[in-house]
Amino acid sequence: MRALVPTGPETKTVEFGDVPEPEPKPHELVIAVEALSINRGETFLLADPNPGWRPGKDIAGTVVAAAGDGTGPRPGTRVVGHPWYSGWAELAAVPAESVAVLPETVGAESAAVLPLAGITALRLLRRSGLGYGDRALITGASGGVGHYFVELAAAAGVRVTAVTATAERGSRLLELGAEAVVRQAGDAAGQYDAVLESVGAEVFPQALAKLRAGGLLLQFGQASRVAPVLDFFSFFRGPKQARIEHFDYTIGERTYGAELETLVRLVEQGRLHPEIGFTGDWGQAPDAIAALRERAVRGNIALTVK
Ligand SMILES: NC(=O)c1ccc[n+]([C@@H]2O[C@H](COP(=O)([O-])OP(=O)(O)OC[C@H]3O[C@@H](n4cnc5c(N)ncnc54)[C@H](OP(=O)(O)O)[C@@H]3O)[C@@H](O)[C@H]2O)c1
Repeated sequence: MRALVPTGPETKTVEFGDVPEPEPKPHELVIAVEALSINRGETFLLADPNPGWRPGKDIAGTVVAAAGDGTGPRPGTRVVGHPWYSGWAELAAVPAESVAVLPETVGAESAAVLPLAGITALRLLRRSGLGYGDRALITGASGGVGHYFVELAAAAGVRVTAVTATAERGSRLLELGAEAVVRQAGDAAGQYDAVLESVGAEVFPQALAKLRAGGLLLQFGQASRVAPVLDFFSFFRGPKQARIEHFDYTIGERTYGAELETLVRLVEQGRLHPEIGFTGDWGQAPDAIAALRERAVRGNIALTVK
């Protein structure tokens, strides 16, 4: 079968390859993939790929083989799935507990962009403890996670300030419920109950300084690939009793069906709007990866598998 395979550390992208069909474990079903998405984390892994690894965590399509243990949807069911890897292929094996059934009204492209970014946004919101009237500052907000987080948090009554490179990249965030969009974390007005930080470099200390006393910074990414330098005495003089916590969406429940069902239901009901900034067929995966690296994608990437 055809699949997108890494081209190695020199070229840091993917190309079509002929690979064996998946051999599902008893708890896995097999999906004929119709659409896939690409995440920033996968672009990092492609820069120095492990031998034998194939990328692909976000897919949507139709079940062609049910799980051997009898769990999960039957063949012919349209689903969205979150495999650990190897999803960018004509066929992909996915744990039955990490898929959700798709209603007819949710297309494959809208579904394929949900898993990694959407699950991360849901879990960030829960971990932050934010509720009605609280204030949140999110950096890197024009990306996949950022668009979902803003809409989900705003729907819960959270007052969100989003940091994005340009006004154009932030315009949809205002429509999705952000209270304010700023170019730099340092421009954010007032104090925040929680900061969601995913850029690194100088953005991290700028965002940290915006916490209220006792506030929480969740560090969940490093899109810039530049390590932030945090001066201890500056931290000491900063917001009193500020907390910094590393966030990893895979900590805790490692099955994702419940969150996928939630995301699909919200999309079906018109309460969650995936922002898809790059579409094409999967032959355009190298272009999509380049655009993501160049910060030229607003929201998510959706590619159809033909
Ligand atoms: N911890 C976890 O469990 C978890 C889960 C999912 C993702 N992540 C991480 O969270 C981050 C966000 O994920 P995502 O899928 O939303 O990524 P994304 O779609 O690529 O969005 C990242 C955003 O960061 C901003 N950015 C600022 N400075 C940048 C720089 N120097 N280089 C590249 N981007 C820069 C860009 O917005 P502007 O151009 O508008 O500034 C970009 O839209 C990534 O680092 C990802 O690896 C972590």
